[in-house]
Amino acid sequence: MSDASFDDESVDDEPLPGALPGEGPLDPQQEPAEQDVESTLRPRRLAEFVGQPRVREQLQLVLHGALNRREQPDHVLFSGPPGLGKTSLAMIMAAELGAAIRVTSGPALERPGDLAAMLSNLAEGDVLFIDEIHRIARPAEEMLYLAMEDYRVDVVVGKGPGATSIPLEIAPFTLVGATTRSGTLTGPLRDRFGFTAHMEFYTPDELELVVRRSAGILGVDLRPDGATEIARRSRGTPRIANRLLRRVRDYAEVRADGAVTLEVARAALEVYDVDEFGLDRLDRAVLSALVRSFHGGPVGVTTLAVAVGEEPTTVEEVCEPYLVRAGMLARTSRGRVATVAAWQHVGLTPPPHAPGESQAALFE
Ligand SMILES: Nc1ncnc2c1ncn2[C@@H]1O[C@H](COP(=O)(O)OP(=O)(O)O)[C@@H](O)[C@H]1O
Ligand SMILES: [Mg+2]
Repeated sequence: MSDASFDDESVDDEPLPGALPGEGPLDPQQEPAEQDVESTLRPRRLAEFVGQPRVREQLQLVLHGALNRREQPDHVLFSGPPGLGKTSLAMIMAAELGAAIRVTSGPALERPGDLAAMLSNLAEGDVLFIDEIHRIARPAEEMLYLAMEDYRVDVVVGKGPGATSIPLEIAPFTLVGATTRSGTLTGPLRDRFGFTAHMEFYTPDELELVVRRSAGILGVDLRPDGATEIARRSRGTPRIANRLLRRVRDYAEVRADGAVTLEVARAALEVYDVDEFGLDRLDRAVLSALVRSFHGGPVGVTTLAVAVGEEPTTVEEVCEPYLVRAGMLARTSRGRVATVAAWQHVGLTPPPHAPGESQAALFE
């Protein structure tokens, strides 16, 4: 699955207005109106966090090892597609450590002064969370190296030949970074994290636990078969599972008696255009273009993105990871290729050279 062109393709990170995903219920990125409900539903402690057994176990060791030794834990990086629980885990880390958390993001750290101010305000033991850390500006990134290694920043005062750099001690802290693009992180930054956790898509069973927990919190009458159906169609993503739960609840209250049964869930998801496999319009457009316009590939991601009128970053970070996981798309050194399952999903007979099995891997 190594694709040389995958990481060094230079693409603009800013989606165009209007080209933003977020129109469909299956967009894994947070909608602005969701902030409140998401914080209500966020798991608070590691024990409440569903799924990701490997990450959970590793994190537990990192945290408890440090707590036992009364040391500051290693800096931690969470990488993976949106909506899988990176921000939640950052907050859980602080809670498990009994520490305060300061939150910022890569794009907010444009000038090194912004970061210096943030760092010098840290108290001993604090967790500093930098979301979208791959978007941090280079000068701030370089300042971060020293801060992560030696708990020190060099503040440059003045300009030109008269400029002096004043070293400033900062309190020992733990940096937690989150990224949807760990491949674009520079080597020096990546190397300074003691622990990198790769978040995986959730299984339908795990998502069922997520929606049941959320239904309990929100007071939704969610029946077991309704929970199963929502979980199956949530693209392996807790944020989407919670969103579909809320949309299905609306339907249940308006068109039925409020109970979320299998029939209600199916009828509601039909209204919201979420298909059997949890694919949304953009996913289906990508598959359709790949199969119909490019005869199953191989085709480069930028070309594919242009064909569906979407930003390459969106196709690459939002669509593709799940299509790969679902066994519908393969990334090869020559480009993206449709699998047998993709041809069948589009409703066409796969050619003999198409890779893969006949059923989407997730649902075998
Ligand atoms: N493992 C999990 N267990 C329960 N709920 C989760 C889990 N992971 C994510 N969620 C839910 O999904 C929402 C989005 O998670 P978040 O941590 O913001 O994802 P990310 O930062 O990776 O985009 C959270 O508000 C939370 O309700
Ligand atoms: Mg997040």
